[in-house]
Amino acid sequence: MLFLITGSSKGIGKALTEHFNNEGHGVITVGRSEGVTERGDLTDEKFRNGLVEKYEPDVFINNAGIAQEPFLDVLNVNGMVAVDLLQKFYQKMKKGNIINIGSLATTQNGYQVKDLSSASYILAKQLLHNASYFLQEMHSTEVKVTSLEIGAVATTIKNRFFGKKIAESEYTEQTLRSVPMKTADVVQAVDWIIKQPQHLEVRSLQINNFVKPSGKLK
Ligand SMILES: NC(=O)c1ccc[n+]([C@@H]2O[C@H](COP(=O)([O-])OP(=O)(O)OC[C@H]3O[C@@H](n4cnc5c(N)ncnc54)[C@H](OP(=O)(O)O)[C@@H]3O)[C@@H](O)[C@H]2O)c1
Repeated sequence: MLFLITGSSKGIGKALTEHFNNEGHGVITVGRSEGVTERGDLTDEKFRNGLVEKYEPDVFINNAGIAQEPFLDVLNVNGMVAVDLLQKFYQKMKKGNIINIGSLATTQNGYQVKDLSSASYILAKQLLHNASYFLQEMHSTEVKVTSLEIGAVATTIKNRFFGKKIAESEYTEQTLRSVPMKTADVVQAVDWIIKQPQHLEVRSLQINNFVKPSGKLK
């Protein structure tokens, strides 16, 4: 199968790429950093349209995202840009799977609204969640759409919690009450979603760490 994964230069997208490459699939990787198949900024509409024109993936993983950046940037990248890619690939693909990497922030479970930046993150992820639902209901193609909503994962985006670089050793405490999942946990969930029988659509799935009542694992 052919996968197209945005935000695959690091973090969750990179782990997904390694997994599906190891399974023998082709993966088109996308990001601004070096080393990806298609290097560019997804806020550039021409770049986005170029991807949609060039590729018809079996699986599109709508993963690129930012946090702790200016209000409109977060709303744009995680919301408008992600929804634009979603609706364009939905029409282009005709069949297969689209998985939108959302957040537990959608239900504000496991995420605290601390400031305007976190508010725009939540708004953007809610937009993506609702867009997934609209396409599932519209059902105008054979593409299965999933909103995968995840809690904290140890990636480079983790520094959003305090807007500064956080040492790995401090991370458990710094994420307030949740020990971050591993990227492998998200990979496992995505793998499960796409391996469901043809007659099943996983519309939304939420995963988070199971935290002890004390709020800390150690
Ligand atoms: N980690 C968590 O705790 C967590 C929790 C819930 C949801 N999520 C979601 O999971 C997804 C992946 O996050 P992550 O934790 O893996 O973060 P990450 O390690 O920071 O990776 C983010 C990826 O998005 C790409 N990206 C960001 N802005 C871009 C742009 N304008 N154009 C092209 N690529 C862009 C980055 O590539 P370049 O820097 O190379 O451009 C990078 O590959 C995001 O949608 C995030 O909201 C993460």
